[in-house]
Order: sequence, then C-alpha cells, then structure tokens
Amino acid sequence: MHQDIEKVLIDEEVIQKRLDILAEKLMNDFEGEPIVVVALLKGAILFMADLLRRVPLTMEIECINVSSYHGGMESSGKVQFLDNTLPDVLGRKVLILDDILDTGGTLHAVTEKLTGLGATEVKTCVLLTKDIPRESVKEADYSGFVIGNEFVVGYGLDYQGKYRNLPYVGILKTSAI
Ligand code: IMP
Ligand code: MG
Repeated sequence: MHQDIEKVLIDEEVIQKRLDILAEKLMNDFEGEPIVVVALLKGAILFMADLLRRVPLTMEIECINVSSYHGGMESSGKVQFLDNTLPDVLGRKVLILDDILDTGGTLHAVTEKLTGLGATEVKTCVLLTKDIPRESVKEADYSGFVIGNEFVVGYGLDYQGKYRNLPYVGILKTSAI
C-alpha cells in the first residue's frame, strides 16, 4: 500500500469483479448500435481502460478534459471545458464515463453540452457515486459503487494531481493533506 494511504476502501480485486458486471450490463443495453464513449480526463483513465476492454461492442472512444475541483478537496461548482474542440456526436448515441459522481455538476454539464451538440442519447457511467443528497441532478445511469461522503483517491482519482495510478480506492492519511 502507498505510504500516504490511511485505508483501502475498495480493493483492486473488488473493483475488477464489479467491472465484469458493469461490462455485461453495457453489452446488453448497447448491443447492435454503434456508440461514442466520451471519457472525462483525467479521472476516468483507469476506469476507461479496464472497463472498455471488457466490452467488445463497436465503439469510438473520445476523451474530453474538464475540471471542477482545481486540485483541492471540494467541488468548485463551476465546470470548465479545457479543450478547444469537442467530439463530433451529432446524431450519435453517447456514453459518458467519469470516475465519480459527487455534486453531479460535471456529468450534468457534459450531458447538456453533448446534447446541445446533437447527440441522440446521452447515458452516464461512473465508478463511484457519493451517497449525498443531490437536488434536481440526475444519478448516473450506471455506477460501480456507492461510497460515503468522504474524499477518496486512487483508481483515477487524485489529490493535487497525485495518486491516480493506485489500483484501489482509498482514504488519505491526514499527514498527506
Ligand atoms: P461533481 O461535479 O461534483 O459531481 O464532481 C465530479 C468531479 O470531482 C469528479 O470528476 C472528480 O474529478 C472530482 N471529485 C469528486 N469527489 C472526489 C473525491 O472524493 N476525490 C477526488 N476527486 C473527486
Ligand atoms: Mg474528474
């Protein structure tokens, strides 16, 4: 375990098993129709690679760079699109992948944006959902795990840019914050 991690919340094996189940659901739901998967950088990188290799459907993979945390531990509430160009989703079915649904602001903003660009359908899939009340914001269509309202790192999630590479989801030691 990394020296800055206090506790592993979801270990590698549990994540990988859950991905098998999520992948099967996606297979059933999206079979027969080409899709565009839009992964949100950088948080979704590990999730995207591990999940999509289990889903042998016809798909294109696009990544977009968005930011809402700006390195800290709380959502700024403002979602920034950091790219100059966005994927061509006109007339296409889209599946957005992200690491975590917290306030829901990010997925909401990206869904609106891609719908505005003419996507025929936009579904969302996250590894983690925080168990907090979210007024008028949609839950993700697919979610790996529900966690409490705590700050986590690993498996794509960062604190000040670090810990994304850890193969598990964990809680940081206070000495690392
Ligand atoms: P939302 O817009 O509030 O739903 O936040 C979603 C984004 O905030 C995610 O894409 C993450 O990048 C980041 N985020 C939310 N919670 C955590 C956390 O516990 N650890 C690290 N990043 C987080
Ligand atoms: Mg993120």
